[in-house]
Amino acid sequence: MLSLSLSLLAFTFPVLTAASTAQQLLANAALADILTRGAPILGHDSGCSQSSKTCDWMRNYPDATKLVHMNLPGTHDSATWNYTQVTQDSLFRYTGTDVPPAAIFQCQDKSLFDMLNLGIRVFDLRFAYNPGNDTLGFHHSQALLAPTTTVEDVWFGLYSWLDQHPTEAVLISLNYESGTGTPRDLKLEQHIYDIMTSNLASKYWVQTNGSLGTLGEARGKLTFLQRYTYDILPASESKRFGIQLPPNAWTDNSPSIEIVYNTLTQQKAFIEDYYEIGLPVGAGAAENIQWKFNATTAHVENATMLNPDQLYISFASSEHDEDVPPETPRIMALGNGTATPGVNQKLLPWLQARKGKRFGIIMLDFFDAVPGLVEAVIGL
Ligand SMILES: *[C@@H]1O[C@H](CO)[C@@H](O)[C@H](O)[C@H]1NC(C)=O
Ligand SMILES: *[C@@H]1O[C@H](CO)[C@@H](O)[C@H](O)[C@H]1NC(C)=O
Ligand SMILES: *[C@@H]1O[C@H](CO)[C@@H](O)[C@H](O)[C@H]1NC(C)=O
Ligand SMILES: *[C@@H]1O[C@H](CO)[C@@H](O)[C@H](O)[C@H]1NC(C)=O
Ligand SMILES: *[C@@H]1O[C@H](CO)[C@@H](O)[C@H](O)[C@H]1NC(C)=O
Ligand SMILES: *[C@@H]1O[C@H](CO)[C@@H](O)[C@H](O)[C@H]1NC(C)=O
Repeated sequence: MLSLSLSLLAFTFPVLTAASTAQQLLANAALADILTRGAPILGHDSGCSQSSKTCDWMRNYPDATKLVHMNLPGTHDSATWNYTQVTQDSLFRYTGTDVPPAAIFQCQDKSLFDMLNLGIRVFDLRFAYNPGNDTLGFHHSQALLAPTTTVEDVWFGLYSWLDQHPTEAVLISLNYESGTGTPRDLKLEQHIYDIMTSNLASKYWVQTNGSLGTLGEARGKLTFLQRYTYDILPASESKRFGIQLPPNAWTDNSPSIEIVYNTLTQQKAFIEDYYEIGLPVGAGAAENIQWKFNATTAHVENATMLNPDQLYISFASSEHDEDVPPETPRIMALGNGTATPGVNQKLLPWLQARKGKRFGIIMLDFFDAVPGLVEAVIGL
C-alpha cells in the first residue's frame, strides 16, 4: 500500500508541483495585495503567542457548546481603531474639513487582526459607499474610515485569519451606516447581497438561516448578525442566512431591547444599546460613566440569570456627549484620569466576581486598555 502510493506520488508529483507552485505563488501574491488594501481596517497580522490565554481560546470549548451559552467579547465600531486626528486630516481631500474631531468617532485602538489575536470574537462593522459611490467600505457616521479598503478586502482578511485559526468562531454584526452623505441605492444593496452570497462567502459564512447553532458548526467561519435590511432589492433575491436584527426593531438608545429573530422557534435577542446617556450639561464624567455602568451591568446581570437559551448582547460602549467638557467614547470607557475610572475599569472586578456565569456577548470600546478585561468577559 505504502509503496504503491509512493510510486503514484513519484509519477504525478513533478507535473503537479510545477503547476501548483505557480498557482500558489499567484494566490499568495493576490492575497498579499488584498491584505495591503485592507490594512487600514484589518491592520497587520503579527500572530499570537501560544502562551497567550486569548489566542485560539475557543479550542478548549467542546463542539456541542451552543453559541448562545458562550461569553463572547466583542468590539463596538470595530473599524474605527486607526481613526486618529492624523488619519482624519489625511482624508479631508475626500470628506472636506467639515467633520467633527476624530476623538468623537474613534472607539478602538487595536486593529481587527490584533483584536482577533487578543481574543475578540464579535465585530461591529458599518458599511456604505467609499468615495466615488462604486465600492463599499467602512464608516462611523460622517467619518469615512478608509478611502479604498473594500468590504471584500476585509472579508478576505478574516477568511485568511480563520484558515490559520480553524478552532475559532467569529461573529460579524453588519449595519448599513446612514449619515455618510453617500447614496443608498439598488446598486449598493445588490453589491452587498452579491458579496454575502458569493461562492466564497458560502464556504466561510455559516449558512444556517434564522438560528445560531453550536460552536462546532461555527468554527473556522463567520456568523452573520444582519443589522440592515434589503429595502430595494427584489424579493426574488432572497437567500438569507445568519440572524436578522433589523434597524426598525432595534430601538434606538435603549437599555433593554428584545428582537424575535425567528418567529417559528421564538428565538430572541436581548440587547442593551444605551449609548447616549443624556444627562444635563455639567453632570461630569463620573456620573455619566456610572449611568452607563449601571445600564450595562443590569443587562449582563439578566444574562447571568434569565433566558439561558437566548442571545444576550450588551454594549458597554457609549457615544460622545455634549457635556462641558464633553465625554468622548474613550473617556466613557476608560475614565478621565485615575480618580475617575471608566466603564471598563469598573466592569473588570464586576465580571471577575461573577466568573463562571453566562454573560453572552459584551461589546467594548478600547477593550485593550484594561488588562484582563477580555479574559474576564470570556471567564478564563
Ligand atoms: C493608521 O493611520 C496612520 C495615520 O493616518 C497611517 O500612517 C497608517 O498607515 C495607518 N495604519 C494602517 C495600518 O493603515
Ligand atoms: C456620490 O453620491 C453623493 C450623494 O448622492 C453625491 O453628492 C456625489 O456627487 C456622488 N459622487 C460621485 C462620484 O458620483
Ligand atoms: C429564513 O427564516 C425565516 C424565519 O426565521 C423565514 O421567514 C425565511 O423565509 C427564511 N429564508 C430562507 C431564504 O430560507
Ligand atoms: C473628571 O471627571 C470628574 C468627575 O466627573 C471631574 O470632577 C473632573 O474634573 C474631571 N477631570 C478632568 C481632568 O476632566
Ligand atoms: C447605580 O446603581 C447603584 C447600585 O444599584 C445605585 O446605588 C446607584 O444609585 C446607581 N447610580 C446611577 C447613576 O444610576
Ligand atoms: C431584566 O429582566 C427583568 C425581568 O424580565 C426585566 O423586567 C428587566 O427590564 C430586565 N432588565 C434589562 C436591563 O433588560
